Amino acid sequence: MLLPEEDVTLLSIETSCDETAAAIVKNGREIISSVVFTQIPLHKVYGGVVPEIASRSHVEKIGPVVKEALNRAGMTVRDVDGIAVTAGPGLVGALLVGLSYAKGLAFAASKPLIPVHHIEGHIAANYIAHQELKPPFICLVASGGHSHVVLVDDYCKFTVLGKTRDDAAGEAFDKVARVLGLPYPGGPALEALAKEGDPSAFAFHSAFNAGEHYDFSFSGLKTAAINILHNAEQKRETVNKADLAASFQHAVCELLSTKAVRAAKQYGCNMVALAGGVAANGTLRAALENSAKEEGIEFLCPPISLCTDNAAMIGSAGYYRMVAGQIGTLAQNAYPSMQLGG
Ligand code: KG4
Ligand code: ZN
Repeated sequence: MLLPEEDVTLLSIETSCDETAAAIVKNGREIISSVVFTQIPLHKVYGGVVPEIASRSHVEKIGPVVKEALNRAGMTVRDVDGIAVTAGPGLVGALLVGLSYAKGLAFAASKPLIPVHHIEGHIAANYIAHQELKPPFICLVASGGHSHVVLVDDYCKFTVLGKTRDDAAGEAFDKVARVLGLPYPGGPALEALAKEGDPSAFAFHSAFNAGEHYDFSFSGLKTAAINILHNAEQKRETVNKADLAASFQHAVCELLSTKAVRAAKQYGCNMVALAGGVAANGTLRAALENSAKEEGIEFLCPPISLCTDNAAMIGSAGYYRMVAGQIGTLAQNAYPSMQLGG
């Protein structure tokens, strides 16, 4: 892709789930400012994201968060070259808050609107973290809603080589964590507990995941973990929860990293990147790094602040969409099940 010589600065907005975020990003690579308001404390008491509460909180916070991002950059909306916004996938009510706000701003300030796919944003977080990174590369995307092995052919061209057939990796972490009595969001809590456990204490097998394809199934692993706990309870035995957490985490991370590295080898890519909320997991980062190293493949990963939901990643992906001439209109809708690969 031919990149423009002049600077392009975008205001970007992300409200697909439980973070209200805005950022100012220059040329898709440089964060001028980034503000993230997390709703986690609001949803914690319910043990998961409550969509209606998420939408209402986005409505309250979107104005102040966008204002703060502009203030920290010393800019007004007149100073940016466009407004990038997550258009899907995600919770429809939550998406609509950010999208409607972005459309209003774009109309009022006569700026182009750039709709962005949330997962494309997660992948683009790697462009901010690794200034020299250029496609093609393989990206393992593991978040609360998605688990994809993606061949990033070009900045705006993606081939999904495999994905989960049931639960996403983050979803499986959250559900097992809940049964272990850990608070929402379960992923980080399970990781903390797993630090005290033995990852080889329990073995998890899956005939489906052993296949040569790049699809995943986490539902079976999740059920196996939950059954270990329930069976022990029925026999009035105790299970070492830290061991169970460590073993489950180990199984999920090995599975994800093995498939991603095999894809890199098969498609002749010498780089494999990690993205999405679960990319914050230290065991997954280490597993993918080690598997990649064994095959002489370079491993890339954004810092943790760019792995979980944020708007800077949307500003990066939006830059490449804008440069490719893919500008939206004020008729743009939100798509809760938007597919990656356009
Ligand atoms: O990408 P993200 O912030 O939101 C979605 O787009 O879904 O991902 C959130 C998911 C949650 O399931 C959360 O439990 C998981 O990422 N997560 C983790 C860790 N930090 C966040 N999973 C495992 N270990 C972590 N350290
Ligand atoms: Zn996400």
